[in-house]
Amino acid sequence: MAFATLDLARIRAEFPALASDTVFLDNAGGSQVLARVADRIHHYLLHDNVQLGASYRASQEAGERVLGARRAVAALVNAVHDDEIVMGPSTTALIGTLVEALRPGLRPGDEVVVTESDHEANIGAWERLAQVGVVVRVWPVDVASMGLRLADLEPLLGPRTRWVAMTQASNILGTVNPVAEVARRVHAVGARLCVDAVAYAPHRLVDVQASGADAVVFSFYKVFGPHHAVLWARRDLLLSLPSLNHFFIGQDVIPYKLQRGNVNYELSYGCAGIVDYLRDVGTALGATGGDRSRMQAAFDAFARHEDTLAEQVLRWLRERPGVRIIGLPSVTAGERVPTISFVLEGRPSEAIVRGVDAHGIGIRFGDFYARRLIEALGLQAYGGVVRISIAHYNTAEEMDRLLVALDAAGV
Ligand SMILES: Cc1ncc(COP(=O)(O)O)c(C=O)c1O
Repeated sequence: MAFATLDLARIRAEFPALASDTVFLDNAGGSQVLARVADRIHHYLLHDNVQLGASYRASQEAGERVLGARRAVAALVNAVHDDEIVMGPSTTALIGTLVEALRPGLRPGDEVVVTESDHEANIGAWERLAQVGVVVRVWPVDVASMGLRLADLEPLLGPRTRWVAMTQASNILGTVNPVAEVARRVHAVGARLCVDAVAYAPHRLVDVQASGADAVVFSFYKVFGPHHAVLWARRDLLLSLPSLNHFFIGQDVIPYKLQRGNVNYELSYGCAGIVDYLRDVGTALGATGGDRSRMQAAFDAFARHEDTLAEQVLRWLRERPGVRIIGLPSVTAGERVPTISFVLEGRPSEAIVRGVDAHGIGIRFGDFYARRLIEALGLQAYGGVVRISIAHYNTAEEMDRLLVALDAAGV
């Protein structure tokens, strides 16, 4: 079924910050926040801010709101059970929590695999398992294609492999990785897969079941919400983990045993506004059916629009002398999200970004905490890459402004 295109004026009106003159193209760093998310947080704090779990009415009602938000996030990621949703402050913290809970079940000589192209959030916590004798293997990036090749994973998997940690989309390359195929191979050796979906979730509808992964993590501040994050993990896996909470919060108490102290109620409640928004966008596009089919229609429209904008930028970059695009050089169906990185021969990336700053356009340079990828690709000499990261609320006119600014900055 063909749906209408995005009504960008209506979309942009949902994000008050977009009324300013700034062109926001650092969305992979942090996206703008929906007014309806901020309104929910505001409302919760001013009207519902009581401790949960008491018998009085206000506490019961607030508890329902926070639980409702968990259900909304479960729908967003297609979790089978809402108690598979663990919330926390950041992706880094939640992966740390997962690994801490896994550690007592690992033995010296067990193996984990991390990639060379991940953000450090999904590497460092796993690598620290070496302190308890776990062997850490690295899935290298193929420098020629700048991608992760399945053929390079194969020799790293074996009977002692317990976990593989990888990213669903690179926050530098924009490449979408074949996580379902990786999951099949990982499961074939009896291991599990942890997926960092931070760079993927703003651009594609997360589907934890279709991903084949055992754990999926991302942060809402990149998905139009606040600094809050979600870890989904399979129920059987969660139940097998020890409690990291107080001693009387038992192993069967999910997700609370991994949400030490209290989860942030107001931010959790706010995040349900993201789901409302996606569903409403899908409905406005003509989608019918359940929430997920409406959200899917929204993301399909986001992807079409983002691909058009990304190709506008990539085409321009492809024609500039001395520019090296770090990632796939063009938009090919579904294989990249609109996070575009490049270097310019003979120029530090910082000089380009500073030149663009003067035009009121927010882009940035650096390693974006995917330092091992930048090193593997030999890009330290440039001070990392220049990164332009597009969101669905950006416009073709904003891309025109960007290209004028890049030209003026000497690209
Ligand atoms: C791909 C990726 N993973 C993980 C993170 C870390 O997320 P957080 O800041 O929520 O720990 C980032 C942040 O930039 C990221 O881009």
